[in-house]
Amino acid sequence: MAQQKIIIIDFGSQTTQLIGRRLRELDTFCEIVPYNKFPYEDEGIIGVILSGSPYSVYAPNAFKVDLSNIRGRYPILGICYGAQFMAQLYGGSVEATDSREYGRARLQDFERENPLFKGFQEGSQVWMSHGDTITALPDGFRVIASTEKVRYAAYQAEDGTLWGVQFHPEVFHSKQGKLLLKNFVVDICGSRQDWSPVSFIESSVEALKSQLCNDRIILGLSGGVDSSVAAVLLNKAIGNNLICIFVNHGLLRKGEYERVMRDYKCLGLNVIGVDASEMFFSALKGINSPEEKRKIIGAKFIEVFEEEAKKIDGVRWLAQGTIYPDCIESMNITGKVIKSHHNVGGLPEKMQLKLCEPLRWLFKDEVRRVGRQLGMPEHLITRHPFPGPGLAVRVLGEVTREKIHILQEADEIFINALHRWHCSDGHSLYDEVWQAGVILLPVQSVGVMGDERTYEQALALRAVTSTDAMSADWAQLPYEFLAQVSNEIINKVKGINRVCYDISSKPPATIEWE
Ligand code: XMP
Repeated sequence: MAQQKIIIIDFGSQTTQLIGRRLRELDTFCEIVPYNKFPYEDEGIIGVILSGSPYSVYAPNAFKVDLSNIRGRYPILGICYGAQFMAQLYGGSVEATDSREYGRARLQDFERENPLFKGFQEGSQVWMSHGDTITALPDGFRVIASTEKVRYAAYQAEDGTLWGVQFHPEVFHSKQGKLLLKNFVVDICGSRQDWSPVSFIESSVEALKSQLCNDRIILGLSGGVDSSVAAVLLNKAIGNNLICIFVNHGLLRKGEYERVMRDYKCLGLNVIGVDASEMFFSALKGINSPEEKRKIIGAKFIEVFEEEAKKIDGVRWLAQGTIYPDCIESMNITGKVIKSHHNVGGLPEKMQLKLCEPLRWLFKDEVRRVGRQLGMPEHLITRHPFPGPGLAVRVLGEVTREKIHILQEADEIFINALHRWHCSDGHSLYDEVWQAGVILLPVQSVGVMGDERTYEQALALRAVTSTDAMSADWAQLPYEFLAQVSNEIINKVKGINRVCYDISSKPPATIEWE
């Protein structure tokens, strides 16, 4: 039976990914596609959602989608721009409002018997965010909800083919937004709500078995959650035909290489460890520019990986732990440059290997759920994200073995302390933050230790909360905790006499300093 799915047509809104997330929370599989790439041949489609957009429907270059082969075939829900687009397409009108309709509003006069509003309460709070509004509905459409300021807050085509809402049900501030999405995907589209880690693992293992047959496949492990889960999943499907390569570039956390190699062996993975740190340190000698450092590390990584892979006979595939947000970011439909971190970018073409990305449909939290279901240990699953170029982007300026050593010592103290400190809800601070680390600053400052004047280096602690690393807040760690960490670092790490805490959020700062 084909996998049921909802197609979300992306017009470039910042909240398109959130619609996807909400649907997955409803155990319903969905794919986000650019507005001009509708998968007409796909057999599993049960419904379509049109997203919001930063543009106006009447702008000359507004994104458009041809609905002639979609309307009537699948139920459609338009959200914000999506709703305005359909209203205009079928003969209604959309105009700029005098004031932007932004923020909280309350639904009134909604059609109680409408399937979209099943279970809704009078005055339910919704979130508006648009500069245009629908001023006339097409013939054959009727209004099904209003707010104080917005007459056509929601509408439906009389023939039951489509619905439109000018508010954003996907955002948290629309209190019954998730219920509306559930009403649409379950009651209107007929979702069986059978998307779960178990069903994902079963169908992926089957698909990987038939895709790869007896071919050999290599995968670059990084110690991070994504590549580790990809490896365990592939291992379940094809066993030792999966060969993993873990390159130690010398820029990992203290003891990380050995620890992760042990974990991988315990998981039964076929792993080749390569210690190439000397080569990386030589290549980084005298290099100060962040971009150049990244490029050198990327190029060296490919060199080492390729060299190892060549030693293995009969490899036809390269596996990568790419996850869904990576794919959505690189779709880039509004033409804005969105950063992507392709640590082994270009490898498949260069090595003439076919690419296999078993996690490409999963969000990060789903990857973690799949990892747990696969029986992976909790510390591998909850490990913080760590940049591909490692501690090199946390040593500002030239990277040397000595500086990496200082950073590793301080980082270990910080991370262990985060694990040890428990909050009132029982979680450790480590679990509360998205990611944490230490940055070695290229400044020296005066201090005093005992009776001695010191002139040593400063470092910054960084800890952020986030859901996807696209934006992040600095974590409000307890003062007492920061004091303890600072003391321990200054007392134990030779060469450091000053510790600062980074209180910048992203944007405008980034999580990593380089
Ligand atoms: P920024 O610094 O851009 O980082 O706010 C966002 C997230 O990406 C991680 N990061 C990287 N990950 N290769 C990676 O695999 C890289 O080159 C890289 N640079 C940054 C960063 O740690 C954060 O989680």
